[in-house]
Amino acid sequence: MSDLKTSSLIRQAAHVIRHADKVVAFTGAGISVESGVPPFRGPDGIWSRIDPSFADIRFFRSKPGESWPRIKEVFFDHIGKARPNEAHFCLAAMESAMLLHGIITQNIDNLHQKAGSRKVVEFHGNTRDVVCLQCGNRYPVTADMLADLPPKCPDCGGLLKPNFVFFGEPIPVDAMQFSNWAVRQAGVWLVIGTSGEVYPASLFPMDAKRYGAKIIEINTEPSNYTNTITDIFLQGPASSVMHNLCKALGISNALPGSQ
Ligand code: APR
Repeated sequence: MSDLKTSSLIRQAAHVIRHADKVVAFTGAGISVESGVPPFRGPDGIWSRIDPSFADIRFFRSKPGESWPRIKEVFFDHIGKARPNEAHFCLAAMESAMLLHGIITQNIDNLHQKAGSRKVVEFHGNTRDVVCLQCGNRYPVTADMLADLPPKCPDCGGLLKPNFVFFGEPIPVDAMQFSNWAVRQAGVWLVIGTSGEVYPASLFPMDAKRYGAKIIEINTEPSNYTNTITDIFLQGPASSVMHNLCKALGISNALPGSQ
């Protein structure tokens, strides 16, 4: 895409955002790729080299000793070192400038919170905590806890499970409630770095479109949304596209390191 076309689309997107009543961001693994967190799908996606069955709740309950080493390798070993990139910081700056009502993220890497975003709804839970399947107690994840797998509850000896949503598990109620609210109330959805492959998260941008929302999409490649519901497709890596969007919105001076 020519630079002229890209900058015109960025200006269009900024205009739509500035004139919207409420804007929500809907993010997927792609927004964290430039922070060193690999995506799940695509050429170097996690699921192209590791069978996802370990992340199914039935497998986890029946074979926790097999599931936990995979869980640690895929979800804990690299996420801990990851730092937010400019795309995360730009969303936090948009929220501070009252240009973003909240973020619905499919990610469990906590990078939106690390970038300073306050209204973050974690559709698939998070990697900050583990929960005991026997007594329900919750504990922050520590390196010691992951040294001896599968980790057991210090209070009752029950099996500890990461506090993210396994395949076959329900979506957290607060995430569903906010997402259903956003479908009806947010006039603009900023869809960043998601293939739109995983139900039920993938349905929300489509439902929003049906309620009249404008869809602005940022992705390096076309997704399930691009040629169906997307109104403005900003093709490129999230960090540089969001950097330019923040500039067009006049808030790039709010980004860390911009002073
Ligand atoms: N900038 C923007 N988009 C990018 C970048 C980047 N630098 N790199 C990759 N992408 C895009 C890819 O083109 C792809 O469309 O990000 C998307 C990543 O898609 P997935 O790996 O399928 O991630 P996601 O859509 O978040 O998956 C949803 O699937 O396995 C489950 O629970 C997991 O939350 C995850 C869900």
